[in-house]
Amino acid sequence: MKISIKSEKEIQKMRIAGRLAAEVLEMIEPYVVPGVSTEELDQRCYEHIVNNQQAIPANVGYKGFEKTICSSINQVICHGIPNENRILKNGDILNIDVTVIKDGWHGDTSKMYLVGKCQPHNERLVKVTQECLYRGIEVVKPGAYLGDIGHAIQKHAESNYYSVVEDYCGHGIGDVYHEDPQILHYGKSGKGIQMKEGMCFTIEPMINQGSKYCKTLKDGWTVETKDGRNSAQWEHTIAVTKDGYEILTKRLNESI
Ligand code: MF3
Ligand code: CO
Ligand code: CO
Repeated sequence: MKISIKSEKEIQKMRIAGRLAAEVLEMIEPYVVPGVSTEELDQRCYEHIVNNQQAIPANVGYKGFEKTICSSINQVICHGIPNENRILKNGDILNIDVTVIKDGWHGDTSKMYLVGKCQPHNERLVKVTQECLYRGIEVVKPGAYLGDIGHAIQKHAESNYYSVVEDYCGHGIGDVYHEDPQILHYGKSGKGIQMKEGMCFTIEPMINQGSKYCKTLKDGWTVETKDGRNSAQWEHTIAVTKDGYEILTKRLNESI
């Protein structure tokens, strides 16, 4: 399919949806503590989006997914399903991924949370993965190639002795949740299509401590590392601007 170019009016709507999605991740932060279930976190996010934001949680009913957030803990790479029996414990690393629809437009974002006091190797994975996202974002501008994003991410991950998950990628986003182009988190500079002002897409690298290989559990959703070692992910929705990028899902305390 053709890659859509958003008008300034459409990007303004994506700014609103993006801010709401970011605000969910801000709102939930104080509740991410040892002893809470991922189901409780999901319900808080659902209530917030529906009642406070008067918006729609895009994941509910998406290809049969039933929850508002994906909650992916430790060796879970992505698409973890909130569950009342999954209680967070001290030292877990958790990704919460949420997408909000407002006025027909999507904002998709995720971040890592450190539950209680985490081991240094996990803190380092989380930090380097956020740096991977930022390295990818910083190359975005009209005329740059999609391969430049993947290259920047892969270089930073591998120079820290981590691997990049290849089975899942970022995506175009707008009035459709997942649209062209695919945004790979690995690759070569100067390859792929060139970015144009008005393109909107996510960058959402999944970085593993061990090998890049994944397996999907029998629930049909939960994706884990094949070797059982931990994985981290951060995601933003980005617009390509006249001279660079705008992060549509930036949180208030974020310094990039
Ligand atoms: N938000 C995810 C993404 O980044 C997709 C989640 S789909 C779900 O693209 F069904 F698992 F929620
Ligand atoms: Co997402
Ligand atoms: Co996404």
